[in-house]
Amino acid sequence: TRIDKAGHKHFMSKEIAEQPTVISETLAAYIANDASDINLPGDGVDFTKINRIVMASCGTAYYACLTAKYWFEQLAHLPVEVDFASEFRYRTPPVTEGTAALFVSQSGETADTLAALRYCEGKASSILAVTNVPESSIARESDLNMPIYAGAEIGVASTKAFTCQLTVLLLMALKAAHARGHLTGEELKVKLAALRGLPAIMNQAMGIEEAVRDVAVQLSHSRDALFLGRGVMFPLALEGALKLKEISYIHAEAYASGELKHGPIALIDENMPVIVMAPRDALFDKTVSNMQEVMARGGKVVLITDAAGAAEASDGVWHTIVLPDIDDVIAPILYALPVQYLAYHTAVAKGTDVDQPRNLAKSVTVE
Ligand code: G6P
Repeated sequence: TRIDKAGHKHFMSKEIAEQPTVISETLAAYIANDASDINLPGDGVDFTKINRIVMASCGTAYYACLTAKYWFEQLAHLPVEVDFASEFRYRTPPVTEGTAALFVSQSGETADTLAALRYCEGKASSILAVTNVPESSIARESDLNMPIYAGAEIGVASTKAFTCQLTVLLLMALKAAHARGHLTGEELKVKLAALRGLPAIMNQAMGIEEAVRDVAVQLSHSRDALFLGRGVMFPLALEGALKLKEISYIHAEAYASGELKHGPIALIDENMPVIVMAPRDALFDKTVSNMQEVMARGGKVVLITDAAGAAEASDGVWHTIVLPDIDDVIAPILYALPVQYLAYHTAVAKGTDVDQPRNLAKSVTVE
């Protein structure tokens, strides 16, 4: 089949728009018909025989792993280590019996990720892959490949592959939590029902696009930007900074909100837009107090939150982007949307080559 932009100006915008549909397909592939269990392919994974997961990946896939670390640790009580594949492969990290090694890669061909996988061969108890290309090297060389069903992704900056990776990783973490006795069958059902509601919520969330575009037009005049997030929102902040750098060429970095005072606060002035990712969850008040430190120093805050968060903390904020309410555990998948839109519309405002950013390749098969 010919792949076209389906009326969109760029593949990236088409791929952002496709997310509710492809996430539905991913969920349908893994969730049992009666919505009571998660079916992993083949023999699946026996999470009771694992005491640790190591993950290694690159780029956006690395941030998917970092998000999954919070999920596996909180839900399944499984310790997780995450590293850039390019670091992991040369660190000679101990990988022992009882360790599952997990590699996330859209293309399944990234050279560093493949090398990290090969390093784990014969050392890890099982080698797991989460890829978008079942015929790829990483999928083939793993013991178990979990496809993400995102469909072909053409834009160099990953969007729908990221949210489908997150979806599969969350399903795995829920499966592990249930298998290891940290989530009852009833609790699992509740989470699965919530996950099945995600595509509709994401569809509804697409209503923020115009508001984000207005912010992006202003952001396009900035030289730098800072993203902040706490807990599971920290990897989303990192992904937001990566996306913005990749396609708009604006220098952006992300920090865990609590680290603000240990360095980046020195950068804050009226020229520094600070994007704060903060749903009204258990960590909200902490993040809001970090945000107030930014505003007290003249920093311009873009707050990405939900209705409750906006009602509580919008005072003095430059722009507030309000997303629909969602289960805290699932929130990272939804919060990918505003950072994608922000990068996309900033790049469009700057007139850069959105789908083919300079110096970047979709798949990096050299070291
Ligand atoms: C390249 C792409 C990124 C991608 C990374 C990892 O740098 O530009 O968008 O996240 O490779 O690719 P993979 O195919 O392994 O997910």
